[in-house]
Amino acid sequence: MTDYIIAIDQGTTSTRAIVFDHSGSIVSQGQLEHKQIFPKAGWVEHDPKEIWDNTREVIGQALSRANITRHNVRAVGITNQRETTVVWDKNTGEPVYNAIVWQDTRTQEIVDRLSADGGAERFKDIVGLPLSTYFAGTKIVWILENVEGAREKADNGDLLFGTTDSWVTWNLTGGVDGGVHITDVTNASRTLFMDLKTLTWRDDILEVFGVPRSMLPTIKSSSEVYGTVHTSSLLREVPVAGILGDQQAATFGQAAFDAGEAKNTYGTGNFLIFNTGTEIVHSKNGLLTTLGYQLGDDVPHYALEGSIAVTGSLVQWLRDNLGLIAAAPEIEELAASVDDNGGAYFVPAFSGLFAPHWRSDARGALVGLTRYVNKGHIARAALEATAFQTREVLDAVNADSGVPLTELKVDGGMIANNLLMQFQADILDVPVVRPVVAETTAVGAAYAAGLAVGFWADLDELRANWQEDSRWEPHLDDAERARLYRNWKKAVTKTLNWVD
Ligand code: G3P
Repeated sequence: MTDYIIAIDQGTTSTRAIVFDHSGSIVSQGQLEHKQIFPKAGWVEHDPKEIWDNTREVIGQALSRANITRHNVRAVGITNQRETTVVWDKNTGEPVYNAIVWQDTRTQEIVDRLSADGGAERFKDIVGLPLSTYFAGTKIVWILENVEGAREKADNGDLLFGTTDSWVTWNLTGGVDGGVHITDVTNASRTLFMDLKTLTWRDDILEVFGVPRSMLPTIKSSSEVYGTVHTSSLLREVPVAGILGDQQAATFGQAAFDAGEAKNTYGTGNFLIFNTGTEIVHSKNGLLTTLGYQLGDDVPHYALEGSIAVTGSLVQWLRDNLGLIAAAPEIEELAASVDDNGGAYFVPAFSGLFAPHWRSDARGALVGLTRYVNKGHIARAALEATAFQTREVLDAVNADSGVPLTELKVDGGMIANNLLMQFQADILDVPVVRPVVAETTAVGAAYAAGLAVGFWADLDELRANWQEDSRWEPHLDDAERARLYRNWKKAVTKTLNWVD
């Protein structure tokens, strides 16, 4: 009987389960969106119970659509929105608070407090990250300081922390009935607590944050058998054998296994990851240093990352908050109704600016407006914002590596947008390349799990699965490219120093 790998992709907007065959092709999938909860300006939450319920349901959808059972599934791989923080009671399995999402900026005061002694980069050499609201560490502190009884329970050893990979894995493997409390190196590298060299939690940093070590999951590699699915699940007894944060999973799914290879994912945000091999490279240009992947006991691979908080979520915002379009794909038609941006530039600094600026004081701005500007221009400016932000990040990658990338592999929902992809190639002045299997995040998690159980033999076999689907070549002349980018840079300056 044919065997498959199932990947669970617990993302920012939805949870999916995807069944893959040996060629890395999709056989079936299930998907459910979860609520985006915005209690106050700058706050973004998810309900962890809803996420877990959805996980169970999408597994059922994917299995039944493929007409298979657990007996056909060799392993489960998990990939997830990173940094989003869940804290739960290990005795009851109940979260003590909603998940605080990676985009949430409520911890600014905690960041400022921790930065007062030594600046925002005080731990960067050790953990690869600046102090920022983005990462899980300050979100845990907020829960301990603001949720009634949380501090006491944590000190008693009753609370567990996890990013959503840990939350799903703990529940999948039994929850209060023996669930394993783990994470992988890529997710651990987004907390502010893991030493990049030793791949272990740093007690000295935990002490500064006031986070008890007993809350933290055990750090594992990205590809090994962590445990088996509990008897209460449709996948009972199937090994859970791979975990990668979603951006690292996409890099793995793009077969960018070696130093010098890169990918850019267009999701709610954009994340460009540049593989630096077994070397830890510290950016001089505003990029993060992060784990790429680690297979079992092998040496880990590291990466530089350019994280952009708002790209696809700007299109959602135009849909949900302004009603400019009824469905996200309509943005392309609206943008195509005009020839250019009409002088308008939209800097979506809704969560401050991430890479390469790291300015939490920034807020969004739409500039260059005249009476000439219509909704088509605004749609266009919104799409162009994604491409301009990517240019800023790619410039930083090229400056750090010294060897400019000659093409960019892309994936994620927004790559269906031809207008954006063409503009991206134009503004970068390098070709943009899309693979046949564009679900690189899920396939990356499947690969990690499949390697651990021998479903795939090695990285060469996976590399052979990657095939080019389409390519956009740059056409814009140099002077026009320079003019547009110069204006973008000017627009960015208008967003700074907005929040005191
Ligand atoms: O760092 C945040 C990132 O992992 C979220 O990705 O695709 O769920 O928006 P996505």
